[in-house]
Amino acid sequence: MALRNMREQGDAILGKISKDVKEVTPRVRELIEDMLDTMYEANGVGLAAVQVGVLKRIFVVDVTGEDPHVFINPKILETSGEQTGHEGCLSLPGKTGIVTRPNHVKVAAYDENMEYFELEGEELLARAICHENDHLDGHLYVEKVEGDLMDVEDLQEEEERQAEDTLTTE
Ligand code: NI
Repeated sequence: MALRNMREQGDAILGKISKDVKEVTPRVRELIEDMLDTMYEANGVGLAAVQVGVLKRIFVVDVTGEDPHVFINPKILETSGEQTGHEGCLSLPGKTGIVTRPNHVKVAAYDENMEYFELEGEELLARAICHENDHLDGHLYVEKVEGDLMDVEDLQEEEERQAEDTLTTE
């Protein structure tokens, strides 16, 4: 298991466009393994290669912790519906903001064996795919945040306060 250094907001590389992958070399395979390790270690549900400083069109997503997907040269084929909710990013630790995304996406990509696949996802999976795909074109979710960026801690306190209020008013 090897962890890679997480690039954070303010690092110029996060604004750059990643390049297509032509073949899965041993180095690319190692990168993908390290990306999964780094994502799980940080309790993330997705990670793009640019976030560990590599400008390749690769991201990994696992919204359940047991279902890793590797996307190489992904293309979003279709989107539909809408979801509005909190989103975070491993490149902006401790922060969260409200972002509206499609509720359903259909994506085409190549897996770690360079096999073509298509995948449809809803809700969190759709959100994660859109978020990670944006990274490949140098975009961060902060560009799409409705209202202010919040501290995750403040949000948790707010939710606890609301839960207490609900209890006392019932
Ligand atoms: Ni992100």
